[in-house]
Amino acid sequence: MSSRRSWLKQTSLAFVSLGIVPLESFAIPKTENSINEETNLNPIRLRSNENPYGPSALARDAMSKNINSSNRYNWDLTSELISKIAEKNNLVAENIILGAGSTEILDLVARYCAINKGSFILADPTFNYWTEIAEKLGLKKITVPLTEDKHHDLSAMLKAIEPDTRMIYICNPNNPTGTICEREALVNFINEATKKVIVLVDEAYIDFTNQKSLVNLVKENKNLIIAKTFSKMYGLAGARIGYGIANSGTIEKISQLQSWSNGSVSVASVSGALASIKDDKFVSETYLLNEKARKYTIEQLERLKIRCIPSHSNFVYFSLANYNKDFFERLEKNNITGTKIYEENGKWSRITIGTMKEMQQFIKVLE
Ligand SMILES: Cc1ncc(COP(=O)(O)O)c(C=O)c1O
Repeated sequence: MSSRRSWLKQTSLAFVSLGIVPLESFAIPKTENSINEETNLNPIRLRSNENPYGPSALARDAMSKNINSSNRYNWDLTSELISKIAEKNNLVAENIILGAGSTEILDLVARYCAINKGSFILADPTFNYWTEIAEKLGLKKITVPLTEDKHHDLSAMLKAIEPDTRMIYICNPNNPTGTICEREALVNFINEATKKVIVLVDEAYIDFTNQKSLVNLVKENKNLIIAKTFSKMYGLAGARIGYGIANSGTIEKISQLQSWSNGSVSVASVSGALASIKDDKFVSETYLLNEKARKYTIEQLERLKIRCIPSHSNFVYFSLANYNKDFFERLEKNNITGTKIYEENGKWSRITIGTMKEMQQFIKVLE
């Protein structure tokens, strides 16, 4: 089949070069699956929890078509995206703010909380790229260790609230551990904590789980902010587009810290997001492919005596304490990028789940 295909392709290319037929006439027919699983194994990028299959075909198409409108400002398209996000979440446009990735949303919340100085609380380890800015702006960082099994210690986080605490950050599922808070416990925690502080829940990886988002709670709770992104499940990390969801009054206050509200996203990235948000097929295919490759990776790592934390995301957290070869040297020699050690004590590291072929290559390198 594949040699017939390549023969057809070569013959067609010869006709094309003679100017006999247009190139599109010989496009290889699409398979049932909308995801192209072909993998370029050099280099293998397993560092940043990107989607190895994205952007979806619909997003690519929309982005390339809309490149031509890049001479115009993005207002119409951003309004359309905001309405679509609101509709999808049973909310209104006033509950949504767009940013160049959810990093911008995290930054805005940090800046908002820093206006009156004070402190903020987060787990250790968790996603903390944005905290340096928060500290530079004068907020004191309070860290609360994860539990033994690498979950958020919600009761310890409640106890850590000080009189000047402005905000608690919860990454659910947590990066780098892939653990998820039990929903009822998280809702109870939010109800309690938001009596005193803002709770910022980062749902960058929630689409890889079967847990429902918390967005429905923002209508009743002005101290709850949810950060979401198109970078992970939708495969648009390089397009830089994310959003925040909160009570309308809270969104209004945060928006005042953006010189141009919703203005930092490009026409191309908004077009990609608009196409992606409707692409349920791509989402369910990515979900299943990730689940399969994650299961394989955990089984194989455990076979190699590498202890893994059960993951609800597109990455796995594991301990290198019983692995007596040089993990990082092996990755480097084989052109695989992984992540550093997060907790020296126990030598905990993280690997992103790539395609099945990438994970097979990763395991081969470790053997
Ligand atoms: C938990 C978490 N939140 C937010 C981000 C930022 O993503 P982006 O700015 O691409 O939306 C990341 C990126 O890795 C992440 O892991």
